[in-house]
Amino acid sequence: MKLLKTKEDMSALADSWHSEHLRVALVPTMGFLHDGHLSLIRIAHQKADRVIVSVFVNPTQFAPNEDFASYPRNEAADRELCKKEGVHAVFIPDAGEIYEPDASIGFTESSLSKVLCGKTRPTHFQGVLLVVNKLFNITRADAAVFGMKDAQQLAIIRRMVRDLDMPVEIVPAPIVREADGLAMSSRNVYLSTTERKDALCLRQALDMAEKAWADGSTSAESLISDIRKMISAVSGAAIDYVEAVDADTLEAVSTLRSNTLVAIAVKIGKTRLIDNIVLN
Ligand code: PAJ
Repeated sequence: MKLLKTKEDMSALADSWHSEHLRVALVPTMGFLHDGHLSLIRIAHQKADRVIVSVFVNPTQFAPNEDFASYPRNEAADRELCKKEGVHAVFIPDAGEIYEPDASIGFTESSLSKVLCGKTRPTHFQGVLLVVNKLFNITRADAAVFGMKDAQQLAIIRRMVRDLDMPVEIVPAPIVREADGLAMSSRNVYLSTTERKDALCLRQALDMAEKAWADGSTSAESLISDIRKMISAVSGAAIDYVEAVDADTLEAVSTLRSNTLVAIAVKIGKTRLIDNIVLN
């Protein structure tokens, strides 16, 4: 496995692979890798001849009041896990490598980034699009794998690739969960023992959605209200949003139908957790 620290070295390696007609897949991450990330790597192997994992805690997607400084990091463990998964190259740029100090070009997205997490994190997706676009360019990726855990991020990246005619195949990956149903997340390490128990209300909410859908209920309003009631009864949980939207356009739906994304964001203590299910 190769370790690349600079953009130049990363691009040169990807160019050499392309000159051998090898297909390159990228798994962009912010590190502190868990089984969710590893499942993306396994999917990437199925999609390409060479797999790159990028590990970069991207400053532009964190607002000043968010957890950029305290975001968990463990480069040595990440490298070890990537090696075990047969990753061909890990790109771990230093903080100063990615952004020019006088960078003046950015992205705006005027629709999908305004809803759900965008309401409380108004600049987050601009930062995500900027870094993902840069990572695509640096790694010359033919394909890139993104988790459905971040359903809004996936929808926005798909929209970017569509609207800008970018030559990258976007591959979605299912949500990987702990045995008790909590979606894996690098931020789960922030949870205390009590908070870890409270966090199960997210999974319970999605179970309610799944059951309502299986029972033939179609009212988004009553599902949302039932979920809100259930989460409100958990003393350590504060709802940010519970919404039912179309999984591609992220527009609110009033009638549950196939491809409805039921998305929730809940603060457990100081930790904000998201989870979702797509009804099918
Ligand atoms: P990060 O939170 O590290 O996640 C990297 C990728 O792993 C994302 O595509 C995310 O959806 C996926 N992922 C995380 N937890 C998952 C789980 N439990 N099951 C399946 N997939 C999971 O998302 C980011 O980083 C950043 O915004 C990034 C795209 C790297 C841009 O900086």
